[in-house]
Amino acid sequence: MADRVPFSSALVTGASSGIGEAIVRELGREGLPQVVVARRGERLAALADELPALEILVADLTTADGLERVATRVASTVEPIDLVVNNAGFGTSGAFHTLDADRLDREIGLNVRALTRLSHAALGAMVPRGRGHLLNVSSVVSFQPAPKLAVYAATKSYVTQLTESLHEEVRGTGVHVTALCPGLTRTEFQSVSSSSGYAEQYPEWMWTSAEQVARRGLDDVARNRAISVPGVLYRSMVAATGVLPRGVLRRLSGLVQR
Ligand SMILES: NC(=O)c1ccc[n+]([C@@H]2O[C@H](COP(=O)([O-])OP(=O)(O)OC[C@H]3O[C@@H](n4cnc5c(N)ncnc54)[C@H](OP(=O)(O)O)[C@@H]3O)[C@@H](O)[C@H]2O)c1
Repeated sequence: MADRVPFSSALVTGASSGIGEAIVRELGREGLPQVVVARRGERLAALADELPALEILVADLTTADGLERVATRVASTVEPIDLVVNNAGFGTSGAFHTLDADRLDREIGLNVRALTRLSHAALGAMVPRGRGHLLNVSSVVSFQPAPKLAVYAATKSYVTQLTESLHEEVRGTGVHVTALCPGLTRTEFQSVSSSSGYAEQYPEWMWTSAEQVARRGLDDVARNRAISVPGVLYRSMVAATGVLPRGVLRRLSGLVQR
């Protein structure tokens, strides 16, 4: 067990950049044994050169084979994983009817199907053990409609809903389940989702760093918070979405995306 983190091992998906990489670096500082998952093996190898005790698992989580290999590793009883971070995800920005349908399928496959399969594998191992942590990376957009990012927002609503339900389901078992819901965070997400131009319209004070998101998520899953929202700005926004009438929220999100 590392000195200052309450986890004995971790598996992080989407560890090759952005928030996932920041989580791996944060845990790596404590020397925690970790399994790092992504498609770009060279990025994971570079990370393993820098940090101790990293096991590399190159996998495309939108393929049956890749997902199965990672689920098997998550469920291992020989080398148990104490913290599973379902972080890999991507978005696609633009008018829904103009977007590539196969890409949207892959987005749902990664953000929804893979996350569900790995959550299932994680809790299947952790609940009988009476210990474990599951951190599912969602988004603040999970709380509101998001025109021009509709499928992404819908997948993240699924993630928040699933994770909150699981948090309640495993209450009292010793297993912690948390949905991490970041706001704007500068990573490769903006270029991958083709939202760089739109995202750059937001002022600097609206951006959180991947490191800030990583620290907050790890602290909150350690404390067994159901929902983790990094940054005062985004916590206030999420609180406001809880009190604004749905119609007002919808029109506001439409205006923001114009
Ligand atoms: N950045 C933001 O503003 C923001 C805000 C809210 C929520 N989020 C969420 O935060 C999470 C991390 O995103 P990020 O911002 O750090 O973006 P990022 O820098 O693009 O990282 C995405 C990670 O997912 C991995 N990945 C993508 N497709 C994959 C696949 N098919 N199989 C396995 N791994 C795959 C990528 O690795 P490879 O390409 O090497 O496979 C990469 O490591 C996502 O779930 C995202 O939705 C981001």
